[in-house]
Amino acid sequence: MTQSFETQINHFEDLSKQSAQAVVIACGLDSSGSVITNDSYELVDHASGGVLSQMIESGLVDGEKGMLQTCPLPKESNLGLAVIVGLGNQPKRDDVYRAFGSAVRKLTDREYASVVVAAKQAVDPALYDSIVTGAIAALDHQGLHRRDSDFKFPQALSFDLPQADIDRGRIIGASIRLAKELVNQPPNVIYPESFADRGIEMAAQCGLDAEAWDKQKLEDEGCRAILAVGQGSDFDPRLLIMHHRGGKPDQAPLAIVGKGVTFDSGGLSIKPSAGMVDMKCDMAGAATVMAVMRAVALLKLPINVVGLCGLAENMVSSNSYRLGDVIKTRSGKTIEILNTDAEGRVVLADTLDVAVEMKPDSIIDMATLTGACVVALGTEVVGSMSRHDELVEEVHAAAHHEGEPIWRLPMFELYDEQVQSKVADIRNIGEGRWGGAITAAKFLQNFVGDVPWVHLDIAGPAFADSPKPYRDAGATGVMVRTMIRWVESRISS
Ligand code: BES
Ligand code: MN
Ligand code: ZN
Repeated sequence: MTQSFETQINHFEDLSKQSAQAVVIACGLDSSGSVITNDSYELVDHASGGVLSQMIESGLVDGEKGMLQTCPLPKESNLGLAVIVGLGNQPKRDDVYRAFGSAVRKLTDREYASVVVAAKQAVDPALYDSIVTGAIAALDHQGLHRRDSDFKFPQALSFDLPQADIDRGRIIGASIRLAKELVNQPPNVIYPESFADRGIEMAAQCGLDAEAWDKQKLEDEGCRAILAVGQGSDFDPRLLIMHHRGGKPDQAPLAIVGKGVTFDSGGLSIKPSAGMVDMKCDMAGAATVMAVMRAVALLKLPINVVGLCGLAENMVSSNSYRLGDVIKTRSGKTIEILNTDAEGRVVLADTLDVAVEMKPDSIIDMATLTGACVVALGTEVVGSMSRHDELVEEVHAAAHHEGEPIWRLPMFELYDEQVQSKVADIRNIGEGRWGGAITAAKFLQNFVGDVPWVHLDIAGPAFADSPKPYRDAGATGVMVRTMIRWVESRISS
């Protein structure tokens, strides 16, 4: 049940020679607040008989960030509908990503045979790839199982950009779409086995080595924590491991680790319906890992990267793991379970241990781990937690470059005692509910040894209640761009 994406992506050189059902053009603002146009804007203005300059004069087209206007063009122009998008003054990568995403999404109400995006002159060449990334990532919606979907993909989408930027934007844009699709699929479609199958299939297509540990292998490997979380479900857990070997054979890999709870009912500490309804999103960390591995492979990055997805479904049955259970994790540390809804950290305990065994250079994990992180930072900001200032700064620099908001929470030693247990080595919840994002990270810290490590809590931004002009509600694909940028920042350094 892979989401169809039949849009052809093409390059074109000269707008005056194009015929299309729609043309996307952009304008910006100079430092004094006047609208900046370009040759493509003027060409389309001419084709419109001067309507586009009138739109500037009347203020309909103001060049501001977020502005989106349309103007039907006369038949003779062969360009159909003009979509005019505002970039503001000195747009950054994410402004460009959103602007062209919004423009292309505007053209999904009916099936356009061809859409041309004339963007070259309006954008700094260093940001060209984000035009394509934004446009492709935006061609996506959560209505995956609607027979009469009102969302129509354009048949062809052409950019006046260098082929290298088109190729890169296409790889990253399609990877973001993959992450979003995996999250948006319902939990009866994406469960540990089917997620792992999708990973193996993707890996084969992209030239990654991949393996999925099934229940037997997880038992043989002593992954009792992953098995415990999944034991109440008829869907068995999996551990998906993907290797990109782009660097020297002896180079320590970067490890990226994702929480893949394909549905989180809370288990015996069951969630109320309102808290459970969106819990198909609880594998967004794992989906991000799969998407980043896809991009890293297709971009052929000269570096070693390993991606690990801990996959389980947290359900209620007579075989569910219980409150009071003590689980001996793969690392040998024992966990006292005091809340079965704090399951992500339990899955990650074994997943991180497998990562550590690979002697990685560093580990970044991504997880929809705590509601507490959403309380702390809101729905649009990723929480980072780490004891390694240098590594967390690298991740922040990548996030800042891509325009994905992130904020660090402290990992003071004073939180450590909160996860101490009287009957086991650690407990799976803090003493009270305060500081819940940090006590969750403190739990994880027990399983990374001395490896430089950053934990990213994406519970807020991974899944959205309402749509934006550049994306539907539901999955957002957060952190895919940042993680690719971070991996690239590590090349030959
Ligand atoms: N998957 C949830 C966290 C979550 C909440 C993700 C909202 C996305 C949106 C996680 O497994 C969970 O249930 N955490 C508990 C932890 C608590 C029991 C210590 C929480 O945040 O309430
Ligand atoms: Mn939970
Ligand atoms: Zn969860």
